[in-house]
Parts: sequence; C-alpha cells; structure tokens
Amino acid sequence: SAPLRDLAAAEGKYFGTAMTVGELADPAYRDLSAREAGVLTVGNELKWDTTEPARGSFDFGPGDQVVAGGVAAGQLVRGHTLVWHSQTPAWVKALEPADLQQAMVDHIAAVAGHYRGKVIAWDVVNEAFAEDGTRRQEFWQLKLGDGYIADAFRAAHAADPDAKLYYNDYNIDGIGAKSDAVYEMVKSLLEEGVPIHGVGLQGHLILGQVPSTVRQNVQRFADLGLEVAFTELDVRMDTPADAAKLAAQAADYSAVVSACVAVDGCVGVTTWGLSDKYSWIPSVFPGQGAALPFDESFRPKPAYDAVAAAF
Ligand code: XIL
Repeated sequence: SAPLRDLAAAEGKYFGTAMTVGELADPAYRDLSAREAGVLTVGNELKWDTTEPARGSFDFGPGDQVVAGGVAAGQLVRGHTLVWHSQTPAWVKALEPADLQQAMVDHIAAVAGHYRGKVIAWDVVNEAFAEDGTRRQEFWQLKLGDGYIADAFRAAHAADPDAKLYYNDYNIDGIGAKSDAVYEMVKSLLEEGVPIHGVGLQGHLILGQVPSTVRQNVQRFADLGLEVAFTELDVRMDTPADAAKLAAQAADYSAVVSACVAVDGCVGVTTWGLSDKYSWIPSVFPGQGAALPFDESFRPKPAYDAVAAAF
C-alpha cells in the first residue's frame, strides 16, 4: 500500500517516528523511515545529557545529524525534550534553586535557539506528573515548585516563536487522574497566557489496554484550542509474539490512529521507532517487546496494515 506518510497526509494528519544517530547509520532502516514517516522526532540527541553535558558547554552535533537525516528524507522534525527529570546531567540536579532556574532558562534559550526554524514543535516539558495526578516529586518540582513549567514555555517561545510548544506525558492517553491533572494544568496555563500550543500523548501502551476514552480525551484537549498528537506510540506485549497477539496489537494501533483521525485538533501520530529491532521496550520492560509496526527484519506486521487502514 501507499506509505503511511502519504495516507496520513491525505487525512490532513502526519505519520511520524523517532530516530536516533545510531539508527540513522543503518541504511535499510533509514530508507524505511524515509518511506513511511513524514515527521521525525529526535529520539535521544536533544536531551539535556547530550546537548549540555557541562554547564554552558553545548553539543549539537548528534542532534544536528538526526535533523539533517530528516531534512534529507523530506521530513519535518519534532524536538524532544527541553525539561525532563531523566537523561539530565548530575550537575543540573545539584544546583541550588535560583541557579537551577537560571540554568533551565539558559539551556532552553541555547537549545531551542539553535534549532529555531528547524523544528515544527518542541516537547518543552516531559513527564511532570505522577500517576495519581499530583506533581512528580523530582528535582524540578522540589526545587522550583509549580511555576517552572510556565517559565519553561515562556523561555522556549522567546527562543523559537514559531515552534509549537507541547507538554508531553505517558498514561494520559485516556481519561483518568493523571490526564485530568494535565488537563487542568494546560487550561490554567492558557488562561494565564502562557505560550503552550499542544499536548503530547506519548501512547506507550500495553496490549489489549487501550483506554476506551482515548477519543474523548483527545477531544477535550482539542476543545481547549490545543493541538494534540500521539508522540511516542508503541504497544508492548509479553514476548514471543504470536498470531493472536499480533492481531490484537493491530486492533490497538487502529484504535489509537482512528481516535486521532476522528478529532480535528489531532495533528498526527508518531511511533517510538518503526521496527522491533530498535525498540526501547525490551531493555526497560524485560520480557516484553514486539511493540512496533515492523518486525526485527523490517517486515510489516498486522499493526502496519491496521495503521494504513485507519488513516
Ligand atoms: C527512551 C529512548 O528510546 C531510549 O533510547 C533511552 O535509553 C531512554 O529514553 N518517554 C520518553 C522518551 O519521553 O524520551 C523515552 O525514550 C521513552 C519514554
């Protein structure tokens, strides 16, 4: 069938995927990504540990390589991510509050400034909430309090006024305590005039557990006037895969893509990689995997056909 990027575009949406420098070195994978994805999210190389390993010392080399790969494939690029508790150097975590605030603003100015005009969107703040809807008790929150999120968005907007600025998180795909809390936060930010333009639903899902309220959830964020995107979709299962699991996975992928297609404000769906060969799942969730639309040999799985059909 036609590439997913074309099928999505015909619906006014995008299909995207994540890419890392390591994966870019695999020509067959690079070609697969170029064929299927219209949008590329930089998978690891724009995280703080890569871009500012020591204070004021910036490395945009790896990020630039992934961005160049996207440009070569005719893809638009999403930036990921400016403020997160993970993949952030120890020197950041050790700063006193006033200094941490300054380091955050300086980091955003430098990184978003470097990529100004080169990315369509930034995941400005990633994973700031706990499962029960309270703020995640990590160093950003503990040292700076609630306000760091608004400050991060303001700094990102100053550095790149044209990029769409997203709040991004997992387990906010359906209605629940965590997505309710994110909803209330983004509503308040909008009321305060904070430059936030989108909400990223990561979509790290478990086989057979797509929330029934995904479409309703996407709709309520869109009704705030925000863009919504599925930013890191994968559907993990206990391995090995079998025909029944792959069929169930196809239905799960279809449900997510259909929810995006059904809501005007949903701009696109990005999977966290294309092939099981490079998925992050097995290393983080032992015994699980087979989460992406192509198998380890880059053969399309039932999930691929389901995504194609759902667009
Ligand atoms: C993952 C990468 O895929 C891995 O290579 C890395 O070791 C850890 O991070 N949510 C996110 C992504 O926002 O940045 C994470 O990416 C997956 C979970």
